[in-house]
Amino acid sequence: MKQRILTGIKPTGYPHIGNYFGAIKPAIEFSKNLDYDSFYFIADYHALTTVTTKDLLQEYTKNVACTWLACGLDPKNVVFYKQSDIPEVFELNWILNNVAPKGLLNRAHAYKARVEANEKLNVEADDGVNMGLFNYPILMSADILLFGTDIVPVGLDQKQHVEIARDIARSFNNRYGQIFVEPKEFIPQEVATLVGLDGRKMSKSYGNTIQLFSTEKALQKSVNQIVTDCRLPGEAKDKDCTINLLYKLFVDKNKATAFEQSLIEGLGWGEAKKQLFTVMNEYIAPMREKYNYYFSHYDEVKDILNDGQQKARKVAHEYLEKVRESIGSGKLNY
Ligand code: TRP
Repeated sequence: MKQRILTGIKPTGYPHIGNYFGAIKPAIEFSKNLDYDSFYFIADYHALTTVTTKDLLQEYTKNVACTWLACGLDPKNVVFYKQSDIPEVFELNWILNNVAPKGLLNRAHAYKARVEANEKLNVEADDGVNMGLFNYPILMSADILLFGTDIVPVGLDQKQHVEIARDIARSFNNRYGQIFVEPKEFIPQEVATLVGLDGRKMSKSYGNTIQLFSTEKALQKSVNQIVTDCRLPGEAKDKDCTINLLYKLFVDKNKATAFEQSLIEGLGWGEAKKQLFTVMNEYIAPMREKYNYYFSHYDEVKDILNDGQQKARKVAHEYLEKVRESIGSGKLNY
């Protein structure tokens, strides 16, 4: 039987270039390996911890769905669905709550970070923490375990969550018998540091991102905002400057070397930005076109997600039946 890979994508904002090279691209490449059976989904109920209005949740969900399709996710090879369309996940979530030790979740990093921040502020440890944030790793375990997942491609920040899923699978299996597969994380190698407009790591929390799909004009504007030093045309530039680091992501080795050489030989910042914009735009334009297509033909996207829902629920249903049998709530034994 083929190994199963599964990953969730949280709709909490507009994907940026850092998300693309750090997560979207490697995950899509992984999904093209037909030795695996792939399940990719939009983790919209995980987004509820931070996205708190109807309009925003809908907007981000639509955006994420169109982005993944535009970047090359092929629904013929990948079961692509929306988490909230799979009620079995939430039933399993509850069952898993009863094998998950609270102490394990106290140590989960997102929750722990909030508690530590509160302690520093001298307010109650759980101030501003809701149960969604606390239980987040259990819901994620349900996402993973429900499909008998072998491999979970995720960023380093999600490693602990996959470990928790593994712990929960083990506790369940100890109590009820060998039902769940113990999943393993797969962390794609970090792409060369992804710098943002200001030279720090590209991150939404620093406000230094370049949105993946905006208009050509907005992309141009972002490139113009890249912070440079005050070296003049003719002066040698630092090869670790933001413009060079970004340029490399979009071209092959030869082009990257040639550009770096021209910076060392004194290419002016204005011209360097122009060339960076050109290569970025060439790279992004075909995907942007697809993105705009899906965005304005959203019914096609919904059909894809509906189809994914049906395929995913079929697997989920069978798995959940096994779980119910094992705990004593199944059709045959109540
Ligand atoms: N927590 C993940 C993130 O923030 C998203 C996610 C939800 C996920 N469920 C998952 C990832 C299951 C992998 C498997 O990125």
